[in-house]
Amino acid sequence: MKGPKTVYTCTECDYQSPKWLGKCPSCGAWNSFEEETYTDTKVSPASPAAGASGEKAVLFRVLDIPEYMRCPTGISELDRVLGGGLVVGSAILLAGEPGIGKSTLLMQLCGRLGDESKIMYVSGEESRSQLKLRANRLGVDPSQMYVHSEVLLENILKEYESVAPDIIIIDSIQTLVSQSITSGAGSVTQVRECANRLIARIKADGTSLIIVGHVNKEGGIAGPKVLEHMVDAVLSFEGERSQTHRIVRAIKNRFGSTNEIGVFDMTGEGLIPVDNPSAMLLEGRPEGISGSCAVCIMEGTRPIIAEVQALVTPTSYPAPRRTADGIDYNRMCLILAVIEKRLGLRFSSCDVFMNVVGGMKIDDPAADAAIILALISSMKDIPVPNELIAMGEIGLAGEFRAVPSVHQRISEAKRLGFTQIAVPLGQMKRDAEKNGIKTPEGVSGMRGIYDALRILAQTQKSEE
Ligand SMILES: Nc1ncnc2c1ncn2[C@@H]1O[C@H](COP(=O)(O)OP(=O)(O)OP(=O)(O)O)[C@@H](O)[C@H]1O
Ligand SMILES: [Mg+2]
Repeated sequence: MKGPKTVYTCTECDYQSPKWLGKCPSCGAWNSFEEETYTDTKVSPASPAAGASGEKAVLFRVLDIPEYMRCPTGISELDRVLGGGLVVGSAILLAGEPGIGKSTLLMQLCGRLGDESKIMYVSGEESRSQLKLRANRLGVDPSQMYVHSEVLLENILKEYESVAPDIIIIDSIQTLVSQSITSGAGSVTQVRECANRLIARIKADGTSLIIVGHVNKEGGIAGPKVLEHMVDAVLSFEGERSQTHRIVRAIKNRFGSTNEIGVFDMTGEGLIPVDNPSAMLLEGRPEGISGSCAVCIMEGTRPIIAEVQALVTPTSYPAPRRTADGIDYNRMCLILAVIEKRLGLRFSSCDVFMNVVGGMKIDDPAADAAIILALISSMKDIPVPNELIAMGEIGLAGEFRAVPSVHQRISEAKRLGFTQIAVPLGQMKRDAEKNGIKTPEGVSGMRGIYDALRILAQTQKSEE
């Protein structure tokens, strides 16, 4: 019989090595190796959903399509992210920073579903009385909810068998340990083994599973990368702890779109879905101050208007500072380079700080136009009119390129009271000529980056 075997696994890419390595030869991550000890040499199947069933291959054509039963959670913003509700028999991973509100959201979910469905809430982090206190604070009292304060997987599976729930919640996967593995809770092996066995079990029974996962200091999901492949959906819970709003983002969803976000407001009574996130994000916008511009981004099917801010200040240091919060750093550098080259404005002797208000993260290239306006506005100290919103992707030649779903964005901007909407000129013309769409009132075209400067110059003139 073979004795225990030690391997070192990269937590980023699951590369394995017999020795500890400082840098992963596969993905290049530093300090990502964790020791794993196997007590037996049995290898668990890579995908617990398929499993080692020993079934014969079947003719694809004759397969029945399983009907995915969706169970709406009644929490509108969560349903939006899940693609219409919780799919019966699916495994979901909810990851987020400590204290962001994961347990709160799940307790509210129990409150909504815990009367019709049997729910087993396994908490490895909190005692029963702590859970009860939270439920009381949130005003939820589900009649069919069972709580289990336990960390040993074998005991959890035993209880699962006797309770036979429709939904099982594990809070959190990093606290679970399996007796068959000697390494500590939260190690790569434990997380993988516990998740594997839980998912294999619920897939066989058609039970829904929600796993809470911690995030590491870089913001990624802690534990083995394979965890994200094992589950059907990965939801990321984001937000600034200093602010009250929270965003749930679908990073992966086998039963719905991955672009949707759900916005919540954290209150003493729990997380309240925000139906109109744009209005919330624009609240308290400064008036007549340079360096701020409204931006419209698409998050899935929904346009959201946020505020992008820039601060450009002269510096005497030879290497000026550049920081970007909520915007990709490289995108900001590219935009700065285009402004320098095409407009001749010099940022090399200035510090540049950029921020998206409300902790939003922008990766929609349509935001380029607003970023440009905010940067030039701060540099020249000319405020962008509050009722102006700009959208357009910038090309390296300084031209504005078409943006998808432009009419949806325009409607949202109008709904929120924006009367000057700047969009790429080419797109507007094409829409008018080819598609016969009349340019809506208040919408103007921008050919290139010069037009962004022109908008600001006009504002300055009208003020004088
Ligand atoms: N009495 C209260 N009134 C208002 N907000 C509260 C109250 N108690 C807790 N909160 C909010 O709930 C948050 C904690 O939520 P929760 O315990 O659900 O987070 P979590 O993501 O599960 O954290 P952990 O990773 O520690 O389990 C706090 O950060 C705080 O914002
Ligand atoms: Mg918690």
